[in-house]
Amino acid sequence: MTARWANTHAHGDPKPAVSSDDATLGFRSQTAEFVDEPLPVEGEIPSWLDGRLVRNGPGRFEAGGERFTHWFDGLAMLRAFDFADGRVRLTTAFPRTEAYRDALDGDASGQFATDETGLSKTLGWLRRLGPPEPTDNANVHVARIDGTLTALTEVPRWVTLDDDLTATGELAFEDDLDTTTAHLTRDDHRDELVGFGTSFGRTHSYELFRIPDGQHRREPIASVAVDTPRYVHDCVTTREHVVVVAPPLEIDLLRALSPFTEGFFEMLSWNPDAGTRLFVVDRDSGALIASPTVDPFFTFHSVNAHLDGRAVVLDLVAFEDAAIVADLSLDALERGGYDDAPQGRLVRLRVPLDGGDVTRSRRYDGGLELPTVPRPVRGRPYRYAYAQATDRTGANGLVKVDVRRGRAREWWERGLYVEEPRMVQRPGATREDDGVVLAPALDTTQSRTVLLVLDARTLEELARAPLPHHLPFGFHGRFFDRS
Ligand SMILES: [Fe+2]
Repeated sequence: MTARWANTHAHGDPKPAVSSDDATLGFRSQTAEFVDEPLPVEGEIPSWLDGRLVRNGPGRFEAGGERFTHWFDGLAMLRAFDFADGRVRLTTAFPRTEAYRDALDGDASGQFATDETGLSKTLGWLRRLGPPEPTDNANVHVARIDGTLTALTEVPRWVTLDDDLTATGELAFEDDLDTTTAHLTRDDHRDELVGFGTSFGRTHSYELFRIPDGQHRREPIASVAVDTPRYVHDCVTTREHVVVVAPPLEIDLLRALSPFTEGFFEMLSWNPDAGTRLFVVDRDSGALIASPTVDPFFTFHSVNAHLDGRAVVLDLVAFEDAAIVADLSLDALERGGYDDAPQGRLVRLRVPLDGGDVTRSRRYDGGLELPTVPRPVRGRPYRYAYAQATDRTGANGLVKVDVRRGRAREWWERGLYVEEPRMVQRPGATREDDGVVLAPALDTTQSRTVLLVLDARTLEELARAPLPHHLPFGFHGRFFDRS
């Protein structure tokens, strides 16, 4: 493990890579690391905010003379913002995983789209005699599992972390999953995390599981057999159910055996005729209660779900098709940035559990992604969703959608590209939106990232804390209370 220096830069140059009003900076590497770096604060961070926002995402897009081709393949960089007494400190780190060491040695073989080229690729395939081995480049999300901060990715190699975000090992389970979601749904009401994996074989299945608090095992909930496995990114729970939404982005396993396939991305094909399937599973019995097929749409992220009478109400971010997956290649992003990417829409599906038709309505007309709701309302009737607002050029904003009334409040600033917002409720809050929204944002006018603290009720800015450098756009994070 490379030693890092407190309050100083251990690697690289923290200065901005470019100085322009240009969001492509968010797809450029940042090699600097920090430990407990105090950040200046403009405005006032509420003194009740006491805990840690930990986020995950790619930090380096090239190493050892090679470059990754897809945003999803960049080397994991963990970022933590520690809040106490109205102040905030920054820690960032690249876990020294096998993938990290290989990349620095010149083998930048990402899992999603990047693979070796030419001779090294052919030799790589011969050496492995099959599809790429799962990577431990856990760059998608984080969770606390059995008390241990863990970095998650879409294959079952999850990396455990120390408080200073250095890797301490790998989380091993006894089950046999080929892929896993990096999204573990936290249910505070039942003190467990819920997730799923995909098992490929003569028959394929989605394996739904829970990880109860205080335990270190994936406990099976249900096994849902499917003819053709599909790319599914997350799942969502109600009090009683787990819901899996499977868009018709099919995984062609035969292509995995071809030496010409370059990573997972090339194994995917969009088959709209097959429609999008919804699987509603009873959390206690494991029974498949409903599995309707609806008109095709693509989704990465659910927003929330709850039971309403005899129907599951399911809110998610829907795209017309899976073009977004290709549009997140680094080539496409560097050509057009976020501005050219397709827009996701906040859609509400009402799924009758007695076999009736699924109905669909839109809750917000703007484009959005990376939605979040506060922990106490997950799986319950709720009113407010927070997300990155995406459909203006020259900025990403933040939106608070009142899903009950179909109204929204937005926050924008020219040149600022807001990442995933996390809503943190004030301790003792009685209103759902009593708290703050935390989000890093790339300030392209200053060529650096700032951390935003907004009032969750009004979206007024309470504080911003400028970082010493830019952070490449990340994916997901969680807020952990100090307690
Ligand atoms: Fe995600």
